[in-house]
Amino acid sequence: MIKPDAVAEGHTGAIIQQIEKAGYKIIALTKLQMSPAQAAEFYAVHQARPFFQSLCDFMTMGEIIPMILEKENAVEDFRKLIGSTNPADAAEGTIRKNFAKSIEANAIHGSDSDENAAIEGAFFFPGV
Ligand code: RTP
Ligand code: MG
Repeated sequence: MIKPDAVAEGHTGAIIQQIEKAGYKIIALTKLQMSPAQAAEFYAVHQARPFFQSLCDFMTMGEIIPMILEKENAVEDFRKLIGSTNPADAAEGTIRKNFAKSIEANAIHGSDSDENAAIEGAFFFPGV
């Protein structure tokens, strides 16, 4: 999912190009603005964290681009492609190093397990 900061700043094309060059096939893609209720549901796992409300506010401030992506070893390789949560710690050439502005406005989200990828994919693309 490309986050509101990167969509608003016009990095969508460059980020998708980097994803495709890394071997991912785009199975589904859309553009939408999440409601506060949707963001709270999507990030329910983080609801006890101090940054939860700020994260939900940020994620609803503009349009996002959710995608379902396909590749061998997709989840693990995507974590490497996007880089560390905090762009200050992200490796050179990663999407967050290239486009993130802060630990919160960090350009992109990646699922952290195959199980969560299935849940998150169904959240945005029921039936795909
Ligand atoms: P993501 O889920 O978005 O791929 O990011 P992640 O696994 O690298 O990070 P996670 O720990 O799951 O946190 C989810 C998102 O919450 C925001 N965050 N803010 N202010 C903070 O300390 C803080 N920590 C995390 C980031 O937008 C992060 O991607
Ligand atoms: Mg995460």
